Amino acid sequence: MSNTASLRPGSVASEHTPLKARNVAFDWADTPLHWIPGDPDSTHTINVLHLLLPAGERWFVHVYKQVLPQIRDARLREDVLGFIGQEAMHSQAHDDVLPHLKRLGLDPTPYTAQVDWLFEKLLGDRTLPPGRARQWWLMERVAIIAAIEHYTAFLGDWVLNAGALDARGADPTMLDLLRWHGAEEVEHRSVAFDLFMHVDGGYRRRVRTWATAFAALVFLWQRGTRFFMANDPTLPDGRASFREFARGGRQGVLPTPGAMARSIPQYLSRAYHPSRYGSTAQAAAYLAQSPAATAAEAHPPHPARPTGAA
Ligand SMILES: [Fe+2]
Ligand SMILES: [Fe+2]
Repeated sequence: MSNTASLRPGSVASEHTPLKARNVAFDWADTPLHWIPGDPDSTHTINVLHLLLPAGERWFVHVYKQVLPQIRDARLREDVLGFIGQEAMHSQAHDDVLPHLKRLGLDPTPYTAQVDWLFEKLLGDRTLPPGRARQWWLMERVAIIAAIEHYTAFLGDWVLNAGALDARGADPTMLDLLRWHGAEEVEHRSVAFDLFMHVDGGYRRRVRTWATAFAALVFLWQRGTRFFMANDPTLPDGRASFREFARGGRQGVLPTPGAMARSIPQYLSRAYHPSRYGSTAQAAAYLAQSPAATAAEAHPPHPARPTGAA
Protein backbone atom coordinates (compact mmCIF):
# COMPACT_ATOMS: atom_id res chain seq x y z
CA MET A 1 0.00 0.00 0.00
CA SER A 2 1.41 3.36 -0.87
CA ASN A 3 0.98 6.41 1.24
CA THR A 4 1.31 9.88 -0.14
CA ALA A 5 0.21 11.78 2.92
CA SER A 6 1.84 15.13 3.28
CA LEU A 7 0.89 18.47 4.69
CA ARG A 8 -2.37 18.97 2.87
CA PRO A 9 -4.43 22.11 2.67
CA GLY A 10 -7.08 21.42 5.24
CA SER A 11 -8.03 23.28 8.34
CA VAL A 12 -8.52 26.97 8.74
CA ALA A 13 -6.39 29.53 10.52
CA SER A 14 -9.16 30.48 12.93
CA GLU A 15 -9.46 27.06 14.55
CA HIS A 16 -8.02 26.90 18.02
CA THR A 17 -7.60 23.99 20.39
CA PRO A 18 -6.68 24.51 24.03
CA LEU A 19 -3.54 22.42 24.47
CA LYS A 20 -3.05 20.01 27.30
CA ALA A 21 -0.34 17.49 28.07
CA ARG A 22 -1.55 13.90 28.28
CA ASN A 23 0.31 11.89 30.84
CA VAL A 24 0.87 8.76 28.77
CA ALA A 25 2.81 5.60 29.58
CA PHE A 26 3.81 2.75 27.27
CA ASP A 27 4.72 -0.83 28.06
CA TRP A 28 7.56 -1.85 25.74
CA ALA A 29 7.95 -5.41 27.01
CA ASP A 30 6.46 -7.05 23.89
CA THR A 31 7.84 -4.69 21.24
CA PRO A 32 10.33 -6.47 18.98
CA LEU A 33 13.58 -4.91 17.76
CA HIS A 34 12.24 -4.76 14.21
CA TRP A 35 8.82 -3.43 15.03
CA ILE A 36 7.97 -3.14 11.33
CA PRO A 37 8.22 -6.90 10.69
CA GLY A 38 10.92 -7.83 8.20
CA ASP A 39 11.93 -4.22 7.56
CA PRO A 40 14.89 -3.18 9.73
CA ASP A 41 15.75 -0.27 7.41
CA SER A 42 12.40 1.46 7.81
CA THR A 43 12.22 0.51 11.51
CA HIS A 44 15.56 2.15 12.22
CA THR A 45 14.80 5.17 10.05
CA ILE A 46 11.80 5.88 12.28
CA ASN A 47 13.76 4.86 15.40
CA VAL A 48 15.98 7.90 14.86
CA LEU A 49 13.11 9.86 16.42
CA HIS A 50 13.97 8.21 19.76
CA LEU A 51 17.54 9.46 19.41
CA LEU A 52 16.76 13.05 18.48
CA LEU A 53 13.54 13.92 20.28
CA PRO A 54 14.44 13.46 23.96
CA ALA A 55 17.21 16.08 23.79
CA GLY A 56 15.55 18.12 21.03
CA GLU A 57 12.22 18.57 22.75
CA ARG A 58 13.87 19.26 26.11
CA TRP A 59 15.71 22.02 24.28
CA PHE A 60 12.42 23.42 22.90
CA VAL A 61 11.14 23.67 26.47
CA HIS A 62 14.35 25.29 27.68
CA VAL A 63 14.26 27.96 24.95
CA TYR A 64 10.54 28.64 25.28
CA LYS A 65 10.80 29.23 29.02
CA GLN A 66 13.21 32.05 28.20
CA VAL A 67 10.93 33.66 25.64
CA LEU A 68 7.76 33.52 27.78
CA PRO A 69 8.31 37.00 29.30
CA GLN A 70 8.35 38.50 25.79
CA ILE A 71 4.86 37.22 24.86
CA ARG A 72 2.34 40.06 24.91
CA ASP A 73 -0.71 38.04 23.84
CA ALA A 74 -2.59 36.09 26.51
CA ARG A 75 -3.86 33.34 24.21
CA LEU A 76 -0.49 32.80 22.60
CA ARG A 77 1.04 32.58 26.05
CA GLU A 78 -1.50 29.88 26.97
CA ASP A 79 -0.67 28.05 23.75
CA VAL A 80 3.05 28.20 24.47
CA LEU A 81 2.50 26.87 27.98
CA GLY A 82 0.42 24.02 26.55
CA PHE A 83 3.10 23.37 23.95
CA ILE A 84 5.78 23.22 26.66
CA GLY A 85 3.71 20.64 28.58
CA GLN A 86 3.18 18.48 25.51
CA GLU A 87 6.80 18.60 24.33
CA ALA A 88 8.10 17.70 27.79
CA MET A 89 5.90 14.60 27.72
CA HIS A 90 6.99 13.68 24.17
CA SER A 91 10.63 13.94 25.17
CA GLN A 92 10.07 11.63 28.14
CA ALA A 93 8.05 9.09 26.16
CA HIS A 94 10.74 8.71 23.48
CA ASP A 95 13.45 8.59 26.13
CA ASP A 96 11.64 5.63 27.71
CA VAL A 97 12.12 3.59 24.50
CA LEU A 98 15.91 3.74 24.74
CA PRO A 99 16.42 1.30 27.66
CA HIS A 100 14.27 -1.19 25.76
CA LEU A 101 16.47 -0.88 22.66
CA LYS A 102 19.49 -1.39 24.89
CA ARG A 103 17.96 -4.55 26.36
CA LEU A 104 17.49 -5.80 22.80
CA GLY A 105 21.22 -5.34 22.15
CA LEU A 106 21.18 -1.93 20.52
CA ASP A 107 22.84 0.58 22.84
CA PRO A 108 21.97 4.10 21.66
CA THR A 109 24.24 5.89 24.14
CA PRO A 110 27.13 6.73 21.74
CA TYR A 111 24.72 8.57 19.47
CA THR A 112 22.54 10.22 22.12
CA ALA A 113 25.68 11.58 23.81
CA GLN A 114 26.42 13.50 20.61
CA VAL A 115 22.84 14.70 20.28
CA ASP A 116 22.86 15.87 23.91
CA TRP A 117 26.04 17.85 23.18
CA LEU A 118 24.46 19.41 20.10
CA PHE A 119 21.38 20.68 21.89
CA GLU A 120 22.88 21.48 25.29
CA LYS A 121 26.18 23.02 24.17
CA LEU A 122 26.07 24.07 20.50
CA LEU A 123 22.45 25.25 20.65
CA GLY A 124 22.45 26.02 24.37
CA ASP A 125 22.70 29.32 26.18
CA ARG A 126 25.95 30.97 25.32
CA THR A 127 27.64 33.15 27.89
CA LEU A 128 26.22 36.28 26.35
CA PRO A 129 25.63 39.44 28.37
CA PRO A 130 22.05 40.73 28.47
CA GLY A 131 21.39 42.85 25.40
CA ARG A 132 21.29 42.57 21.63
CA ALA A 133 23.52 39.54 21.20
CA ARG A 134 21.57 37.51 23.74
CA GLN A 135 18.25 38.53 22.17
CA TRP A 136 19.57 37.70 18.68
CA TRP A 137 20.53 34.20 19.80
CA LEU A 138 17.17 33.69 21.47
CA MET A 139 15.29 34.77 18.32
CA GLU A 140 17.51 32.58 16.17
CA ARG A 141 16.58 29.58 18.29
CA VAL A 142 12.87 30.45 18.32
CA ALA A 143 13.03 30.54 14.50
CA ILE A 144 14.89 27.20 14.34
CA ILE A 145 12.15 25.63 16.49
CA ALA A 146 9.46 26.99 14.14
CA ALA A 147 11.26 25.36 11.20
CA ILE A 148 11.63 22.04 13.04
CA GLU A 149 7.96 22.13 14.00
CA HIS A 150 7.08 22.35 10.31
CA TYR A 151 8.66 18.91 10.01
CA THR A 152 7.21 17.45 13.20
CA ALA A 153 3.77 18.48 11.88
CA PHE A 154 4.66 16.95 8.50
CA LEU A 155 5.65 13.69 10.19
CA GLY A 156 2.63 13.77 12.49
CA ASP A 157 0.28 14.15 9.54
CA TRP A 158 2.15 11.43 7.70
CA VAL A 159 2.00 8.85 10.50
CA LEU A 160 -1.70 9.47 11.15
CA ASN A 161 -2.31 8.55 7.51
CA ALA A 162 0.29 5.80 7.12
CA GLY A 163 -2.09 2.87 6.80
CA ALA A 164 0.73 0.78 5.34
CA LEU A 165 2.24 0.53 8.83
CA ASP A 166 -0.93 -1.20 10.05
CA ALA A 167 -1.11 -3.37 6.94
CA ARG A 168 2.47 -4.51 7.49
CA GLY A 169 1.72 -5.51 11.10
CA ALA A 170 3.77 -2.82 12.83
CA ASP A 171 3.91 -3.14 16.62
CA PRO A 172 0.75 -1.55 18.07
CA THR A 173 2.51 0.04 21.05
CA MET A 174 5.08 1.77 18.83
CA LEU A 175 2.34 2.85 16.45
CA ASP A 176 0.40 4.35 19.33
CA LEU A 177 3.47 6.25 20.56
CA LEU A 178 4.08 7.62 17.06
CA ARG A 179 0.45 8.51 16.45
CA TRP A 180 -0.22 9.98 19.90
CA HIS A 181 2.88 12.13 19.42
CA GLY A 182 2.06 12.85 15.78
CA ALA A 183 -1.51 13.85 16.68
CA GLU A 184 -0.26 16.29 19.30
CA GLU A 185 2.23 17.69 16.77
CA VAL A 186 -0.68 18.31 14.38
CA GLU A 187 -2.76 19.70 17.24
CA HIS A 188 -0.12 22.27 18.25
CA ARG A 189 1.38 22.79 14.79
CA SER A 190 0.73 26.54 14.68
CA VAL A 191 2.21 27.46 18.06
CA ALA A 192 5.91 27.64 17.18
CA PHE A 193 5.26 29.60 13.98
CA ASP A 194 2.81 31.97 15.70
CA LEU A 195 5.36 32.56 18.45
CA PHE A 196 8.12 33.26 15.94
CA MET A 197 5.87 35.71 14.06
CA HIS A 198 4.88 37.37 17.35
CA VAL A 199 8.39 38.00 18.67
CA ASP A 200 10.29 38.45 15.40
CA GLY A 201 8.83 37.16 12.14
CA GLY A 202 11.66 38.33 9.88
CA TYR A 203 11.54 36.55 6.53
CA ARG A 204 15.31 36.44 6.10
CA ARG A 205 15.64 34.87 9.52
CA ARG A 206 12.91 32.36 8.61
CA VAL A 207 14.79 31.29 5.47
CA ARG A 208 18.21 31.21 7.13
CA THR A 209 17.08 29.17 10.12
CA TRP A 210 15.04 26.82 7.91
CA ALA A 211 18.21 26.07 5.91
CA THR A 212 20.12 25.38 9.13
CA ALA A 213 17.38 23.20 10.59
CA PHE A 214 16.78 21.25 7.37
CA ALA A 215 20.48 20.56 6.78
CA ALA A 216 20.92 19.49 10.42
CA LEU A 217 17.89 17.19 10.30
CA VAL A 218 19.03 15.49 7.09
CA PHE A 219 22.55 15.09 8.49
CA LEU A 220 21.42 13.77 11.88
CA TRP A 221 18.78 11.49 10.38
CA GLN A 222 21.02 9.70 7.90
CA ARG A 223 23.71 9.44 10.54
CA GLY A 224 21.25 8.04 13.08
CA THR A 225 19.91 5.48 10.61
CA ARG A 226 23.44 4.40 9.74
CA PHE A 227 24.25 4.13 13.46
CA PHE A 228 21.28 1.85 14.14
CA MET A 229 21.87 -0.29 11.06
CA ALA A 230 25.58 -0.71 11.83
CA ASN A 231 24.97 -1.59 15.50
CA ASP A 232 21.90 -3.81 15.10
CA PRO A 233 23.07 -7.16 16.58
CA THR A 234 20.86 -9.12 14.16
CA LEU A 235 22.36 -7.53 11.04
CA PRO A 236 25.90 -8.75 10.38
CA ASP A 237 26.48 -6.15 7.67
CA GLY A 238 23.79 -3.56 8.28
CA ARG A 239 24.01 -0.46 6.13
CA ALA A 240 21.61 2.39 5.54
CA SER A 241 21.03 3.58 2.00
CA PHE A 242 18.96 6.16 0.20
CA ARG A 243 17.66 3.37 -1.98
CA GLU A 244 16.12 1.64 1.02
CA PHE A 245 14.71 4.95 2.21
CA ALA A 246 13.03 5.51 -1.17
CA ARG A 247 11.76 1.91 -1.14
CA GLY A 248 10.17 2.52 2.30
CA GLY A 249 8.51 5.61 0.88
CA ARG A 250 7.13 3.71 -2.11
CA GLN A 251 5.72 1.06 0.24
CA GLY A 252 4.14 3.69 2.48
CA VAL A 253 6.08 2.78 5.63
CA LEU A 254 8.19 5.96 5.39
CA PRO A 255 7.39 9.42 4.02
CA THR A 256 8.32 9.74 0.34
CA PRO A 257 11.27 11.91 -0.74
CA GLY A 258 8.82 13.73 -3.03
CA ALA A 259 6.48 14.68 -0.18
CA MET A 260 9.46 15.88 1.83
CA ALA A 261 10.68 17.98 -1.11
CA ARG A 262 7.23 19.53 -1.52
CA SER A 263 7.24 20.59 2.12
CA ILE A 264 10.14 22.97 1.46
CA PRO A 265 8.39 25.62 -0.67
CA GLN A 266 5.41 25.42 1.70
CA TYR A 267 7.48 26.68 4.61
CA LEU A 268 9.34 29.24 2.52
CA SER A 269 6.17 30.73 1.04
CA ARG A 270 5.45 34.18 2.45
CA ALA A 271 1.80 33.07 2.75
CA TYR A 272 2.72 30.03 4.90
CA HIS A 273 0.74 29.22 7.98
CA PRO A 274 0.83 25.76 9.58
CA SER A 275 -2.94 25.69 10.05
CA ARG A 276 -3.32 25.32 6.27
CA TYR A 277 -1.79 21.84 6.42
CA GLY A 278 -2.87 18.74 8.29
CA SER A 279 -6.18 18.18 10.07
CA THR A 280 -6.91 19.11 13.67
CA ALA A 281 -10.09 17.02 13.49
CA GLN A 282 -8.11 13.95 12.46
CA ALA A 283 -5.62 14.53 15.28
CA ALA A 284 -8.42 14.91 17.82
CA ALA A 285 -10.13 11.78 16.52
CA TYR A 286 -6.93 9.78 17.01
CA LEU A 287 -6.34 11.16 20.50
CA ALA A 288 -9.92 10.25 21.45
CA GLN A 289 -9.19 6.58 20.76
CA SER A 290 -5.42 6.26 21.33
CA PRO A 291 -4.84 3.54 23.96
CA ALA A 292 -2.17 5.61 25.72
CA ALA A 293 -4.04 8.91 25.55
CA THR A 294 -7.33 7.43 26.75
CA ALA A 295 -5.55 5.61 29.60
CA ALA A 296 -3.96 8.94 30.54
CA GLU A 297 -7.42 10.54 30.63
CA ALA A 298 -8.68 7.76 32.90
CA HIS A 299 -5.84 8.08 35.38
CA PRO A 300 -4.76 11.38 36.89
CA PRO A 301 -1.10 12.41 36.56
CA HIS A 302 1.21 10.36 38.71
CA PRO A 303 4.16 12.50 39.67
CA ALA A 304 6.10 9.50 40.92
CA ARG A 305 6.01 7.69 37.56
CA PRO A 306 9.46 6.20 37.13
CA THR A 307 11.43 7.57 34.24
CA GLY A 308 13.63 5.59 31.91
CA ALA A 309 11.81 2.34 32.65
CA ALA A 310 9.98 0.34 30.07
FE1 LIG B 1 6.76 16.74 20.13
FE1 LIG C 1 5.89 19.91 18.55
